[in-house]
Amino acid sequence: MATSRAWKRREYSAVAKLLHWVMAGVVIAAWTFGLLQDDMPAGPERLALIDTHKAIGSTVIVLVALRILWRLFNPAPPLPGTMAPWLQGAAMVGHLVLYLLMVAMPMSGWLISSAFGYPVMLAGLVELPSLLADKDPELGRTAAEAHGLMAWILAAAVLGHVAMALKHHFIDRDDILTRMMPRVR
Ligand code: HEM
Ligand code: HEM
Repeated sequence: MATSRAWKRREYSAVAKLLHWVMAGVVIAAWTFGLLQDDMPAGPERLALIDTHKAIGSTVIVLVALRILWRLFNPAPPLPGTMAPWLQGAAMVGHLVLYLLMVAMPMSGWLISSAFGYPVMLAGLVELPSLLADKDPELGRTAAEAHGLMAWILAAAVLGHVAMALKHHFIDRDDILTRMMPRVR
């Protein structure tokens, strides 16, 4: 039906929406536990927080792989023509940065654990193999620095992303936010 096709073109698919919102929750939760453990003195509580952080963060590896695969075969709906071309380009670059960070964050985290010889339990359930044949604490420290730095770049990128979504909704009054929202029947 023409109407349903037109509707489909204007919003993200149900799968894209589901992956977006599940990942938004998971990434924000991983970020929060990462920061919480960082402020704690060494001890069993901190270890428990790190384990939770790793269990949540590691699921991003699987989710982002699924999401990138889905996205390769399901292009995003076209942006509204009211958006200036440079702004459309900026939105694409912003999304690309978010995708890169969604890959780099869990991979650098996995590398930290591999380099120090600690196990990584995917979702707290299944042990992932080490990324390295041998321990390498020097590499581990570098990976931890990169992980910490990228976490702040991610926070800035997400804040900018949310601010732009709200600007589209309340100032430009276009459908950018609603086309990523679950459809209420
Ligand atoms: C999207 C996923 C992830 C996010 C958003 C994230 C975020 C963070 C944040 C905000 C910190 C504190 C950084 C600081 O200020 O020092 C942190 C630390 C840490 N994360 Fe992650 N993380 C993710 C995935 C992972 C994964 C998958 C692992 C391991 C399997 C991991 C292992 C660690 C470790 C070991 C630290 C402590 C590093 C240190 O010693 O300073 N992270 N993470
Ligand atoms: C929690 C508040 C969030 C809001 C309100 C929000 C809102 C949106 C909206 C409205 C879009 C659609 C943009 C368009 O139509 O072109 C979008 C796309 C996107 N969002 Fe978010 N988002 C949030 C969190 C996040 C987080 C935490 C991440 C990842 C770290 C993220 C990553 C992305 C990506 C990569 C896209 C592009 C999807 C694609 O076209 O492939 N978002 N977001």
